[in-house]
Amino acid sequence: MTNMQQGRTSAAPAEPASEGPIRIYRPEDFEHMRKAGQLAARALDMLVPYVKPGVSTQKLDDLVLEFALDHKATPAPLHYRGFPRAICTSINHVVCHGIPSSKPMREGDIINIDVTLIVDGWYGDTSRMYAVGEVNRRAERLIDVTHEAMVRGIAAVKPGSTVGHIGHAIQTYAERERCSVVREFCGHGLGRVFHDRPNILHYGVAGEGPELKPGMLFTIEPMINLGKSPVKVLSDGWTAVTRDRELSAQFEHTVGVTETGCEVFTYSPAGYHKPPYVVAS
Ligand code: MF3
Ligand code: CO
Ligand code: CO
Repeated sequence: MTNMQQGRTSAAPAEPASEGPIRIYRPEDFEHMRKAGQLAARALDMLVPYVKPGVSTQKLDDLVLEFALDHKATPAPLHYRGFPRAICTSINHVVCHGIPSSKPMREGDIINIDVTLIVDGWYGDTSRMYAVGEVNRRAERLIDVTHEAMVRGIAAVKPGSTVGHIGHAIQTYAERERCSVVREFCGHGLGRVFHDRPNILHYGVAGEGPELKPGMLFTIEPMINLGKSPVKVLSDGWTAVTRDRELSAQFEHTVGVTETGCEVFTYSPAGYHKPPYVVAS
């Protein structure tokens, strides 16, 4: 989502207020989140054999739309604030919200595919990086750093910690690896809505921000750049790119705070954690 709390972009109107109560969900609501999260993760698994040179991102969009309809789910991005497709596909220097098109993927590209499915009214939101054919070592390293940054953010989730602990864990690790954290977009509360309080900033100070409590539901979705952090949004109103045109990567999981830590709803059933994804034959 757009980080309007920081007032740094005008990409989307009517963001959730940054102040106010954060919804606490019941244990039985977590079952709905598991269902939605697992279906979104299965959609990402399903795409693995199609992410290869010559295939268009529109084809990936078509596949997810068909998958959603086959499973009585709705792709949340479609027509969301005017977004024209079912998924986001963000290649190379595209940071997020790339719009699927007829343009074919090329050998060496790295691509983030972001799927959000609504199942029985509940939202599962997850994204992963994919490598198109062989990618170079810098791209591979960025993917590894971004995945590890997300893992460290998730590890910071427990009752009594704050949103700032999550951001701090992500930022200190990414910057130690000489990468930068995108400031203009953040993770978000969700449940029976797509984007809700709290904003989950992927940078910050441990102990600052709202306290985490059992029953909170949100995404952690760091966007990490090989070069500098600043982003701009293209004239289509959606596609966010790095200003320096260097590579950007992102992973996203939907999580719920438990009594002891957190539950991740969007792990890959196929074990497709980060690339390279080996297709079982
Ligand atoms: N799935 C994205 C997220 O992680 C949001 C996409 S909104 C869209 O929050 F309109 F760009 F699709
Ligand atoms: Co999200
Ligand atoms: Co998403």
